Amino acid sequence: MIYQSSSQEETARIAQNLAKRLEAGAIILMTGPLGAGKTTFVSSFAKELGVKKHIISPTFTLMRSYSLSEGKKLYHLDLYRLESPEDILGMGIEEILRDKENIVIIEWGERLGFLKLPKALLINISPTGETSRTIEITQVGS
Ligand SMILES: Nc1ncnc2c1ncn2[C@@H]1O[C@H](COP(=O)(O)OP(=O)(O)OP(=O)(O)O)[C@@H](O)[C@H]1O
Ligand SMILES: [Mg+2]
Repeated sequence: MIYQSSSQEETARIAQNLAKRLEAGAIILMTGPLGAGKTTFVSSFAKELGVKKHIISPTFTLMRSYSLSEGKKLYHLDLYRLESPEDILGMGIEEILRDKENIVIIEWGERLGFLKLPKALLINISPTGETSRTIEITQVGS
C-alpha cells in the first residue's frame, strides 16, 4: 500500500488508521532517512493506541515501553545508534518480539535484517519535498 502525505497531519492520520486495524503481537519496522518522519508516525500511532505520555524518540535510550489496555505493552525502539547484531540482541529484543502481548515499533528497523522475523509490517517513509512524504507499507517476514 502506498500513501502520499503532504503534511505532518496527514502522516498522523495514516498512522492512526494503521493503529486502529492492528492485531496483537504486531511488529512494525520503520525505515527512511533522518528526519523522514518515523518518530512523528510512531507518536500518532501510540496516541491512537491510548498512550497519554508524550512520545519522544528513544535515540539515546534505545527503547521505551508504554502500558496499553488489557496488560498489553507498546515497545518503541530506535536502532540508529546500534551498529552490530550483538548490540541489538543485547537489548533482549528477541524476547520482546516473541511476546504476542506486545506491539513493537522499531525505527531504523532495517537493522534487524539479520534476524529471522515473524510476520511484520515494513513502513518506509521517503521525503519527496519539505512537507511531502511517500509512505509505503508492505508485509515482510513469515
Ligand atoms: N508529511 C510529513 N510527515 C511527517 N513529518 C513531516 C511531514 N512534513 C514535515 N514533517 C516534519 O519532519 C520532521 C520529521 O522528524 P522525525 O523526528 O519524525 O523524523 P525521524 O524519521 O524520526 O528522524 P530520525 O531518523 O532522526 O529519528 C518533523 O519535524 C515533522 O514535523
Ligand atoms: Mg526518530
